[in-house]
Amino acid sequence: MFTHKHTNIKMLKINQIDSFQRILLHWYDTHKRELPWRESNDPYIIWVSEIILQQTQVVQGLEYFYRFTKQFPTVNALANANIDIVLRYWQGLGYYSRAHNMLHAAKEIAEKYNGQFPSTYEEIRKLKGIGDYTAAAICSFAYNLPYPAIDGNVYRFTTRYFGIHTPIDSTIGKKDIAEFSMRLLNKKYPGKHNQAMMEFGALQCTPHNPNCDNCPFKKSCIAHIEHTVELLPIKEKKTKIHNRFFYYICICNNEHTYLKKRSNNEIWKGLFEFPVIETQEKISTKDLLLSTDFTHLTGKNCSIIKELPEIKHVLSHQHIFAQCICVDINKETDTLKSYQKILISDIENFAVSRLTEKFLEKIGW
Ligand code: ADE
Repeated sequence: MFTHKHTNIKMLKINQIDSFQRILLHWYDTHKRELPWRESNDPYIIWVSEIILQQTQVVQGLEYFYRFTKQFPTVNALANANIDIVLRYWQGLGYYSRAHNMLHAAKEIAEKYNGQFPSTYEEIRKLKGIGDYTAAAICSFAYNLPYPAIDGNVYRFTTRYFGIHTPIDSTIGKKDIAEFSMRLLNKKYPGKHNQAMMEFGALQCTPHNPNCDNCPFKKSCIAHIEHTVELLPIKEKKTKIHNRFFYYICICNNEHTYLKKRSNNEIWKGLFEFPVIETQEKISTKDLLLSTDFTHLTGKNCSIIKELPEIKHVLSHQHIFAQCICVDINKETDTLKSYQKILISDIENFAVSRLTEKFLEKIGW
């Protein structure tokens, strides 16, 4: 096995690689979870599972996977679907651009490839929303093609195992790990090897308190030998967090309420929500009720039914401080004519963000 400090890729010997692969596959055979997408070599099914798993943990992902593939069992079924329905099935997963991209790619496959999922890395990589990782995952799992699939789990395991301190979000770091991964890849069983690498990162070489005492690689893992396991992988860039302030106005007009589909190219594109007033900083309810944005929406004679407590909604790059005020009106304002007037009893048919869903639960709809 590898005994050098800070293993250099050129030091990797064939027998070392063989030994690594054997230990890995043996570990995988005894520890792997039985997961439905692992039973399939249908590239469409694998694609769906991979995109869902980029959004959520395996346990939560399972339910989405079953629902999505039941509703859209083939690439053509997805290609023919309406985006509102696709978003409804994606609801709660976040990063809704992924659902838009999937629909776009499915249409492309239906048109350009006659509904047959393409079978080369280059063609697959060109599809909308498919990056290096997803292309490699589909190619190796569906077609057993020799491409290393490098997700967060693999980055962690690989940087620790080889003692790589180059930041994984730098160009050099990515290139380094891609080279190691290609050398390490089992060219006979690339699909199984990739699954095993990911599974090892997910179950054994975990971000915190990894199970090093019981690890089959502990004699050769550089980070274990050097006591740097918890330090790796290194990231150089800190994510910048942007604070936003949303004031939702839930308007009741007898048995109706009003929604709008978010259309800007930012969060929650295509999802529905109550009329919203976004401000640069936090404002008091009193100032909100006096603002022209508010009075244009509701008219002067509205009555406040209730104010829900603020929810802080955390996304990867932004923190949203959201409030929701429920009001009753008896006359529709001109401003509201540009919103979709819907029956309150119909609201569950609209795809909404997790934040809006939380408010709906609090309102009791
Ligand atoms: N995470 C990403 N892809 C995965 C897969 N195919 N199996 C389990 N976890 C994963």
